[in-house]
Amino acid sequence: MLQDKRIVVGICGGIAAYKSADLVSRLRKKGAQVRVIMTANAQEFITPLTLRSISGYKVATDMFSCPQEWEIQHISLAQWAEYMVIAPATANFIGKVASGIADDLLTTTVMATKSTVVIVPAMNTNMYNNPIVQRNIQSLARDGYLFFGPASGSLACGDEGAGRMEEPSAIVEYMESLAAGKKDFENRTVLVTAGPTREALDPVRFLTNASSGKMGYSIAGAAAKRGARVILVSGPTNIEPPPSVELVPVVTAREMYEKVMHYFPNCDVVIKTAAVSDYRPAVYSGEKIKKTEGRFTIEMVRNPDILAELGGKKKGQVLVGFAAESTNVIDYARDKLRKKNLDLIVANDITREGAGFAGDTNQGYLLDAKGGIQQLPAMTKARMADIILDRVALLLGKDS
Ligand code: CTP
Repeated sequence: MLQDKRIVVGICGGIAAYKSADLVSRLRKKGAQVRVIMTANAQEFITPLTLRSISGYKVATDMFSCPQEWEIQHISLAQWAEYMVIAPATANFIGKVASGIADDLLTTTVMATKSTVVIVPAMNTNMYNNPIVQRNIQSLARDGYLFFGPASGSLACGDEGAGRMEEPSAIVEYMESLAAGKKDFENRTVLVTAGPTREALDPVRFLTNASSGKMGYSIAGAAAKRGARVILVSGPTNIEPPPSVELVPVVTAREMYEKVMHYFPNCDVVIKTAAVSDYRPAVYSGEKIKKTEGRFTIEMVRNPDILAELGGKKKGQVLVGFAAESTNVIDYARDKLRKKNLDLIVANDITREGAGFAGDTNQGYLLDAKGGIQQLPAMTKARMADIILDRVALLLGKDS
């Protein structure tokens, strides 16, 4: 997949910089052409000579050194690259790019390129969790920069937590999947539910949940791109359905229930992003309800829990739920995963900036039935869709 791909590897100054030599070596073994840019601080950790030997090409380090070639370096590398991968990417690098600062060869090249840029963060866990860093990551993710990692574990500084640079082998795999435009859902049917449901009180009033539908539409679009037949059962939204999906519009939870049950037996995967109304008004008034003095009480009755019912019925299908929580996010999500007999659940803390309904980014945790938990740092909903589908593909088995 990476044969002859033109990849610029950017290296920032962090202890993980030593792993970048392995990354460059692995990319070259896959047949990629690699050029390396190192920041001044990166050269404190690993020498340009090492990277030059491994990449087989002069390492670019300085904006102002006498040009070896006639092109202006940051422009020529920016144009040459099909992919840029910045590994390790420090908090400083992320902050500079997020703020539009281009004060060295690496940041200038990133700013000038139209290629796909993959940022692989590596830093102390407190730095990574710092709200400024998180805000910068969110803002870059919104602008289309891809983030890979960080992994969790013990860090060079002695701390435990998120901040480790992803292993070079994993970065190469990720780059391969980007380059391949994977078709790992061919011959699979994926049912996605999205958006809110609406429960009418009278001809002009209804109760609903906050949901833009963006997460579900992103998943539907990503699954279709990866070769799946996609059925998108959607409540009312204001967004365009992605190409090549079969849109099944619904309004109420009961309509959603009927459509989902109809398609379920022939599905391989169900991903329920929909914000389903748990209740509906007990009585629907055919006439508009007129106001009167004093309080007005609406009696509500339960709607079916669609996902829980699928959990009871499933025969080999992979079931993925979403849990929008404001407290005890992981515990509540784990509880839902177990009670509804799910394979995976995505837990979103709706109180956090960059997670939730209307935006283009999301963050949270991906929990599996074996007790595994993967942090999903702030990223575009499109990227999150692919991460969820990667996990689903693993569950579907090797032939997926
Ligand atoms: N869900 C569903 N049918 C419902 C309610 C929820 O299929 N009637 C699905 C959602 O699509 C989501 C998951 O269940 O994938 C979790 O939804 P959520 O509303 O967070 O959970 P509830 O089980 O309704 O729990 P609670 O409202 O107590 O948080």
